[in-house]
Amino acid sequence: MLPEAGQIDRAVALLQAGELVAFPTETVYGLGADAANPVAVARIFAAKGRPADHPLIVHLPADGYLDRWASDIPQFAWELAEAFWPGPLTLILKRAAAVPSVVTGGQNSVGLRVPAHPLALDLLRAYARAGGGLGAMCGIAAPSANRFGRISPTEAAHVREELGDAVRLILDGGRCDIGIESTILDLTAGDALPPRLLRPGRVTPEQIATVIGFLPEVAGRQHADATPRVPGSLAAHYAPTTPLRLVSTTRLGGVLDALQHAGHRCAVLCHGPLPKDGAAPVLRRLPTDPHAYAQALYAALRELDQAAAELIVVEDPPATPAWAAVADRLRRAATGSGRNEDSDG
Ligand code: TXA
Ligand code: MG
Repeated sequence: MLPEAGQIDRAVALLQAGELVAFPTETVYGLGADAANPVAVARIFAAKGRPADHPLIVHLPADGYLDRWASDIPQFAWELAEAFWPGPLTLILKRAAAVPSVVTGGQNSVGLRVPAHPLALDLLRAYARAGGGLGAMCGIAAPSANRFGRISPTEAAHVREELGDAVRLILDGGRCDIGIESTILDLTAGDALPPRLLRPGRVTPEQIATVIGFLPEVAGRQHADATPRVPGSLAAHYAPTTPLRLVSTTRLGGVLDALQHAGHRCAVLCHGPLPKDGAAPVLRRLPTDPHAYAQALYAALRELDQAAAELIVVEDPPATPAWAAVADRLRRAATGSGRNEDSDG
């Protein structure tokens, strides 16, 4: 479902006034504000309950806006932008002087991407035509539109569930195609050193290598309580409130039997053949294709989280590169699960 043109005009007017607007991207829904307006950006942190040192991604209407936001842009960045934008790749670059430090969490770098969802592009272009906010910078800062540490929204209704009245307008673009957040690549080392992959996503290291000629380095995972360079890189993130455990395919049947015998009410998320009938009161089976699985993952976790289960048991994804981004999100969901908002890293 696409909103009528009037909704875009309303969204642009709200952004110009420093208010929050949620909008769909091809990955997940974002919670947007004028990225050049520190007061507007502060509203994002307040609505999400996000600590101030976690930087935001700035969304741009096209590659041509890169140099308003970044400085010392390496050749790699232009090549990657050309190859993957609009699309699910975020580039971390040295920030330009005009970038307010509230957006970057105080860092010298800034995260930038051009999203591919038609509604996000319409919004960004209309915003640019209308002046592009403070300083005509034309950037919309938008983290995923969920409470900090929780499951990212992939439908407009999820955004309302997460943020309630804190967001003035939610543009409804239906269900997100990709369903998990963008790949994040740190290019701050310039052209001399390999870029670092900070968060896996639909754009894979192999695809990046076809453009720049070599594979990015994979950044190590952080401890749950470490000061984040990337919030998405916290060991605990993307998490349901119900405890979540990953179980291998071979052990799944046995584990469910044992839990059932002990009287535990479980919800199950699997992708292989269904465990035998009655193994769990709530059961969701996702597709065996990793892209289709990723698209459905967060809605399924959200549903299972609301099933009044004591435990969500998730079948381990296959240990192959095609599943790397899904496996990453499930590991963090397991680590962050079962905590309340206040204790979440
Ligand atoms: O797919 C996505 O990337 C979605 C949609 C809405 O675009 N956005 C998203 O935003 O996932 P968020 O804030 O939930 O995650 C953005 C990630 C964070 O992990 C943040 O730390 C990282 O981008 N990031 C932004 N600026 C950064 C910087 N200067 N250095 C390192 N990481 C940065
Ligand atoms: Mg997020």
